[in-house]
Amino acid sequence: MTDEKLIVLAKQAQENAYAPYSHFRVGAALLGRSGRVYTGCNVENASYGAAVCGERTAVYKAISEGERDFARIAVASSSGEITYPCGICLQVLAEFSPEIEVLLSNGREVQKYKLSELLPHPFIKEDIK
Ligand code: THU
Repeated sequence: MTDEKLIVLAKQAQENAYAPYSHFRVGAALLGRSGRVYTGCNVENASYGAAVCGERTAVYKAISEGERDFARIAVASSSGEITYPCGICLQVLAEFSPEIEVLLSNGREVQKYKLSELLPHPFIKEDIK
């Protein structure tokens, strides 16, 4: 799976975003170590706090299908700018794949990060005593 293809899949997933409140549409494509790709979009709700981001939708789809180890995630949004995943999504990614690469695209440029660059100090299992 190339970076370019993963970004295309994220952009396609963005089309399914349910964002009638923010009008900010996000798509994500998560590549599992198995080679399978799980896509996700943000899903908002009239009770605003019930919204879930595109990245977490993809992760939760994957976990529920039995995959827990991920190589890369691509994220696209309707903003025309690079969209950095929110702190909660970074924390959720860190739970499963601290080494994951994060690809961010605005349609003109792609930025590539290690998760540890975006979230250098995740809260992890070992912190719970
Ligand atoms: N959102 C995402 O889906 N991913 C991000 O990385 C940032 C924010 C969504 C949540 C909400 O539906 C909308 O964007 C505005 O915050």
